[in-house]
Amino acid sequence: MTRAWRHLLKALHLKTLSRWTPKTCSSLSSGAFWTSVTRRSLHTKPSMPPCDFTPERYQSLAYSRVLEIHKQHLSPMLTAYFPEPLLLHQGHMEWLFDHEGNRYLDFFSGIVTVSVGHCHPKVNAAAQRQLGRLWHTSSVFFHPLIHEYAEKLSALLPEPLKVIFLVNSGSEANDLAMLMARAHSNSTDIISFRGAYHGCSPYALGLTNVGIYKMDLPHGMGCQPTMCPDIFRGPWGGSHCRDSPVQTIRKCSCAPDCCQAKDQYIEQFKDTLSTSVAKSIAGFFAEPIQGVNGFVQYPKGFLKEAFELVRERGGVCIADEVQTGFGRLGSHFWGFQTHDVLPDIVTMAKGIGNGFPMAAVVTTPEIAKSLAKRLLHFNTFGGNPMACAIGSAVLEVIKEENLQENSQEVGTYMLLKLAKLRDEFEIVGDVRGKGLMIGIEMVKDKVSHQPLPREEVNQIHHDCKCMGLLIGRGGLFSQTFRIAPSMCITKPEADFAVEVFRSALIQHMKRRAK
Ligand SMILES: Cc1ncc(COP(=O)(O)O)c(C=O)c1O
Repeated sequence: MTRAWRHLLKALHLKTLSRWTPKTCSSLSSGAFWTSVTRRSLHTKPSMPPCDFTPERYQSLAYSRVLEIHKQHLSPMLTAYFPEPLLLHQGHMEWLFDHEGNRYLDFFSGIVTVSVGHCHPKVNAAAQRQLGRLWHTSSVFFHPLIHEYAEKLSALLPEPLKVIFLVNSGSEANDLAMLMARAHSNSTDIISFRGAYHGCSPYALGLTNVGIYKMDLPHGMGCQPTMCPDIFRGPWGGSHCRDSPVQTIRKCSCAPDCCQAKDQYIEQFKDTLSTSVAKSIAGFFAEPIQGVNGFVQYPKGFLKEAFELVRERGGVCIADEVQTGFGRLGSHFWGFQTHDVLPDIVTMAKGIGNGFPMAAVVTTPEIAKSLAKRLLHFNTFGGNPMACAIGSAVLEVIKEENLQENSQEVGTYMLLKLAKLRDEFEIVGDVRGKGLMIGIEMVKDKVSHQPLPREEVNQIHHDCKCMGLLIGRGGLFSQTFRIAPSMCITKPEADFAVEVFRSALIQHMKRRAK
């Protein structure tokens, strides 16, 4: 069913409400933290918009059994959200259902991955069709879907970004882009921002500059971090630095055509070039908006100048569009376009396959040739027919359902509403982003900008979940809420999310006051 149809059905109330209604979160009825919250807060629980989908009854492993198996057989790393991790069962567009039938509005879409909606009917149909025809070929044989997909994707990129390498994950894409940059430049050093996350493979880990992902064993040879031009938390920033409907609370006296913060951060970038890397460098990796670091935006014009400096040193410029690509930023299809730059290599994953494991590196014929001269790049699963069928359907859905335009409209609407919460609550330090990539940075107070302690952010996060809203986290101190839903969400759903977030903040302020 198309987005337009779903809206029509909703407007006409021709929907069947989920057979399950959200249950009260166990921690709302008992437990240490809820006992400090007044009963009145319960009554302020915002009412969830309707959903025209009924999930099947969950008939799989008991929750306790899942926890046991997880403890015994799965990675001991604690990555799950919430003290009682959610056990998910089914998804439908922007909705998720857990094993108890509770319905959640998914405003994190996996981790910025389900671009067009969970189990989107058109994407599902394409996958099912291909599942019955042919799953796998490998690159020693040809298959038309790979060629069709390559043509479709390349049409969305400007000249000379026309050569596509299909892989399976963002880390793999960035590994390959690193190889390309080094092969093309004949140099080793690669620069990336502090706070950046570009993947966890041993090679890409060198680009990732987030403490918890760093290892105390040798890694990241030739990778150098540089200061992230973070205009909220960094040393410089002002009142019209960023490309967003919402600016920071910092003030500045820059004329409209200049940005002193940008100039200061460029000085830092030059400092890295003159102190930490060789005279010739291989490249520079940047996300158009930093994802894992809490949707951090750089001052306008920064990337343009940085790209010039990198090219002066013989390096290539790589845009990591793993989170920002495919229309999410609303005003443009690719994040690099919002900075008015043309990268030499673009890496993409996550939203490319709406949750199906696929990724891509797009580059120029010249760089692709440099790589080919140095090595035979081979990837067993990259560009398999299943991935290409799904990837094509995703591109079609983005276009047919105007999802980029929807990101722009609903994202801007939500950003402006959230900005009012920043003005209302002392602990909301910054609201930022573009389209449907929105960060809300939580602080102890607006003067110090110190991050709100993690336990407090955890409680707010948990309260949102209990009211039926799933949002993400980011930032070096996990202090930033990340909102990045599937691009099909509606304004009433955005209203609900903002109301839930506001209720969670009110509950929190009451807890604090006690
Ligand atoms: C910007 C960015 N680049 C690369 C990656 C790595 O992608 P993957 O987890 O698919 O390897 C991520 C993952 O979160 C990411 O956010």
